[in-house]
Amino acid sequence: MNTKGDRKKVFSGIRATGRLHIGNYYGAIKGMIALQDEYDCTFGVMDLHTLTTPYDRGSLQGQIRDVVLDMMAAGLDPKKCRLIIQSHIPEVVELSYYFATVYQLARIEDLPTFKEKKAQYPEHITVALLYYPILMAADILLSKAELVPVGIDQEPHLEAAREIARKFNVTYGDMFPEPQRFATKGELVPSLTGEGKMSKTKEGSFITLADSLDVIRERLAKAPTDSGAKGGSVPKKGGVANLFVLLRLFSSAETVKSYTSVYEQGVIKYAELKHQLSHDIFKELEPLQKRRQYLMEHPHEVDEFLASSETSYREDGRATIAEVREKMGLSSHE
Ligand code: TRP
Repeated sequence: MNTKGDRKKVFSGIRATGRLHIGNYYGAIKGMIALQDEYDCTFGVMDLHTLTTPYDRGSLQGQIRDVVLDMMAAGLDPKKCRLIIQSHIPEVVELSYYFATVYQLARIEDLPTFKEKKAQYPEHITVALLYYPILMAADILLSKAELVPVGIDQEPHLEAAREIARKFNVTYGDMFPEPQRFATKGELVPSLTGEGKMSKTKEGSFITLADSLDVIRERLAKAPTDSGAKGGSVPKKGGVANLFVLLRLFSSAETVKSYTSVYEQGVIKYAELKHQLSHDIFKELEPLQKRRQYLMEHPHEVDEFLASSETSYREDGRATIAEVREKMGLSSHE
């Protein structure tokens, strides 16, 4: 194995919105776990980013802890990676300000993510919302990360991070890599409602990592289907298509094949499909739920992981900040 120094750096984060769902699991966490063996990885709970949309002050600490526990339960290993809480790393905010000085306002206003949030929360269009991609670029580049395991919806933010890196390098001298997205299978888990992607803020759209078999069954029972008599090839959009996407993610190839075939013949029974799918999803989640229980009973293991990650990550961060300040003329040569 490579020594730590010459391994590629990886960074990814999840906003602190409470318990995670299987969309987060496939979109981000699976990628993190896949990379922690090979690369120098840091993952974060992005609580500063949580403040860009309305949030409840009293629940924030609990939500942060929930995400930490879910990430560790899913397989982030203290021996293999670092796990930080964004607001504990003040260096990232400092770096984001330096980045703000090289990035054009018009570019940010144009980002689809900004436009979406603006439409979703018309009463809450703050400067911080506009600043979101700059802070995210700083998250990634504070450790000079080159690979970012996130869902495809984050691509515009990564494009912004690359632009910021390029602009900084051209203006002040080469120092930042241009980070690339690391894609995983099933990175866009569809909503159970049959429309769009699975999302914490869309009621009826998600299955959380904490759901019991019964809850998974109930949630799937509400997912829309059709009469089942149509036959022909499996649709590409809508409720039925989404159930097949979940089947492909969680069930065996054999199961997928057999349901595809009964669909094609127009004799599919969705109750059976949903029953099988509930079991297959729960089978994948059960070990995570057991690990989470263990971690809740051993909180010092969690706290130690966070503390040692923070110390080591801030050290890297301070080195980057020193280099940036020197390049920008904010400190004199030693
Ligand atoms: N924007 C990401 C999301 O909503 C979360 C995030 C914040 C992030 N900073 C990051 C992801 C840095 C990767 C790297 O999913």
